[in-house]
Amino acid sequence: MKIAVTGATGLVGTRLVERLIDEGHDVRVFTRSVEKARRVFAAPKYKQSVEYVAYTPTESGDWQKEMSGCDRAINLAGEPISERWTAERKQRILNSRKLGTQKLVEAIVQAEPKPTALISGSAIGFYGTSESAEFFETSEPAENDFLSQVCQAWEAEANKAKDAGVRVAIIRTGIVLGDGGGAIAKMLTPFKLYAGGPIGSGRQWFSWIHIDDLVNLFIQALLDTSMHGVYNGTAPNPLRMKEFCETLGEVLDRPSWLPVPDFAIEALLGDGAVVVLKGQKVLPERTQASGFSFEYDEAKEAIKQVVS
Ligand SMILES: NC(=O)c1ccc[n+]([C@@H]2O[C@H](COP(=O)([O-])OP(=O)(O)OC[C@H]3O[C@@H](n4cnc5c(N)ncnc54)[C@H](OP(=O)(O)O)[C@@H]3O)[C@@H](O)[C@H]2O)c1
Repeated sequence: MKIAVTGATGLVGTRLVERLIDEGHDVRVFTRSVEKARRVFAAPKYKQSVEYVAYTPTESGDWQKEMSGCDRAINLAGEPISERWTAERKQRILNSRKLGTQKLVEAIVQAEPKPTALISGSAIGFYGTSESAEFFETSEPAENDFLSQVCQAWEAEANKAKDAGVRVAIIRTGIVLGDGGGAIAKMLTPFKLYAGGPIGSGRQWFSWIHIDDLVNLFIQALLDTSMHGVYNGTAPNPLRMKEFCETLGEVLDRPSWLPVPDFAIEALLGDGAVVVLKGQKVLPERTQASGFSFEYDEAKEAIKQVVS
């Protein structure tokens, strides 16, 4: 198949494109910088199977014509949320997903022939934060919560592809554990310097997923035509932050006693501190009911694989 992918050059996209190529598919990468994308996919195995389309994700344009002939589309693009949230960045976080998905769906609907399915990213921020509740795919979204509003807008735009007969599956992703970036890369340095410890109160939930499982889930959703609607991309055994950090310390054979206080994170990330100071316990009920089986269902094994 030929698969259109946005956000292909990121942490998840890079691994996903590699798997798609290894499994014999062709990939059309939609990117803001073809030059950067060519560098990311410089290895010889990508030469014959990856094409590049330069695009401005939030604007209609000729790039949309390049959706024609793609069999499926995967939507991973979005402004990172882990940098300090200024008013301008919050706007980019929202626009890149809401408008970006709107323009992508416009392209899918106009394409001839068009992709038969759109697999779109979303995030567990949809559910808001809680120290006590458990969230499933059927749970309601949070009210008055910026990240939840972003996810709701992102999903609503993706779902509009259904009006054109396109199958839509949405993966609400948890904290991705993978090498080469993401949350764990940021947490590793202090631990290696013997200064690791829980962030904030330590009681907040940490709903994680190993990157290989997330990529498998995207591929299953791509191939299994019975999959539609929302699937939580989180491992079945989320931990509280304190337990996660203890496990990380154990795997690294380093102590985990130096807590990072709220104010230090707030000074660094502003309002965005909510991402690490507050969490949510999310369970992959519908994902498991779909027959998906996790390679990494315990954090210790997932961390070991990532740091090895
Ligand atoms: N990593 C996690 O723990 C996690 C958790 C939950 C949800 N997610 C979501 O899953 C998706 C993929 O995650 P990831 O970790 O692979 O993300 P990532 O490493 O930050 O990469 C996302 C990609 O999106 C594109 N992008 C960046 N800023 C953009 C902007 N302002 N407008 C449009 N496109 C932009 C970039 O591709 P180009 O430069 O090639 O255009 C980038 O490579 C993201 O939407 C993320 O929010 C990730």
